[in-house]
Amino acid sequence: MRFVELIRKKRQGGELSEQELKRLVDAYTTGEVPDYQMSAFLMAVYFKSMTSKELSAWTEAMLHSGQVLDLSSIAGAKIDKHSTGGVGDKVSLILAPLAVAAGLKVPMISGRGLGHTGGTLDKLESIPGFNVNQSVERFIDLVDTLGLGLIGQTGEVAPADKKLYALRDVTATVECIPLIASSIMSKKLAEGIDALILDVKVGSGAFMKNIDRARELAQTMIGIGKAMNRPVRALITDMDQPLGRTIGNSLEVIESIETLRGEGPEDLTEITLELVTEMLDVAGNVTDRDQTKRRLLELLRDGSALGVFEKIIEAQGGDASVCADTSKLPTAKHTTVLEAWEGGHINRIQAESVGIAAMELGAGRRRKEDTIDPAVGLVMEAKRGDKVEPGQPVVTIHYNDDRELDKVKQMLREAIVIGEAPTDVPPLILDRLS
Ligand code: URA
Repeated sequence: MRFVELIRKKRQGGELSEQELKRLVDAYTTGEVPDYQMSAFLMAVYFKSMTSKELSAWTEAMLHSGQVLDLSSIAGAKIDKHSTGGVGDKVSLILAPLAVAAGLKVPMISGRGLGHTGGTLDKLESIPGFNVNQSVERFIDLVDTLGLGLIGQTGEVAPADKKLYALRDVTATVECIPLIASSIMSKKLAEGIDALILDVKVGSGAFMKNIDRARELAQTMIGIGKAMNRPVRALITDMDQPLGRTIGNSLEVIESIETLRGEGPEDLTEITLELVTEMLDVAGNVTDRDQTKRRLLELLRDGSALGVFEKIIEAQGGDASVCADTSKLPTAKHTTVLEAWEGGHINRIQAESVGIAAMELGAGRRRKEDTIDPAVGLVMEAKRGDKVEPGQPVVTIHYNDDRELDKVKQMLREAIVIGEAPTDVPPLILDRLS
């Protein structure tokens, strides 16, 4: 097969066959197709897109480029959730133990943060000793015995995606719906799950800046799921301001533990209950959604979900006593408060800029190779819709190094808009697709 012909065919808007796409993915994974040819192909896809037939074949080839986990011997519904990423999005840390407490199995392979968005693995690693690098065998054992495993992408699962994503990152081909959808779905379906719930975020802090693009991405992933006989549902949720109150790894773990105790912020609790309800529903375990949410709230308040979190922390080498005493988590040396520079109502919080401000403090990575400081971050003392008096705290900044402090304060002042008139806060759940 002459790969240059496949590039030309796609460049001219033609449809590649299942065999051609499989051959291309396999040859790229083994190194037979060099980066320069795959770069050209990806750029052709960026401009000419893929038909739904092509997309299923491409995703299936990526999914089978490595090990596909077989969890069929594990009893119960195996359901995962994937979020397209945002600022302050610590939902997975609460959702996974809660879903397990409610009777599901959650095999969760997560990613790291990049740019303004955070990553589940970085948050988990702020728990002293927590090891996200578990073998596939150990991961399966954790799902079997404890109901969940929380690990990072291994070289064995969907290796084609790992290589392709790195290449897309440096060839300006990340922002392409078929490529995003196939990347996410190949990894998730390789986990051996029965169904997947997507949290597709939209707004200033999200990948998708407008709701039409968010819906298109969600529908594309649902379509891939259908082609592979795997139920996929999506919630489109607001990411026009940070989720919850904290941004930064250790701070987000503390907020997650509070939420697991039933004492978390309203938006974070609401979105988690919605997503777990969806997971239970797709597994056929819901007759009345409101009743299910009340039961889930009870599993938070009675300590059941927190108990599951303690067990998985311990099983993955972490210090589970952080759940009872969050002061054992990394803490920044200094804090300073950004006060309201005028009175009024918080009209807007530019989530992306807030995420970048947290990154500047060291909570996130500019490039994949950067190291992060687990202790630093931001606490939003006021959120959209809140009334503030001049001098009232708006953000508490947790920092270890004051070199970027002035810049961070300036970024936050520009990101937060205080207006005279109150504003309506849009709903958190904007749409539901299946
Ligand atoms: N997240 C992924 O896993 N893949 C993409 O392509 C984009 C975001």
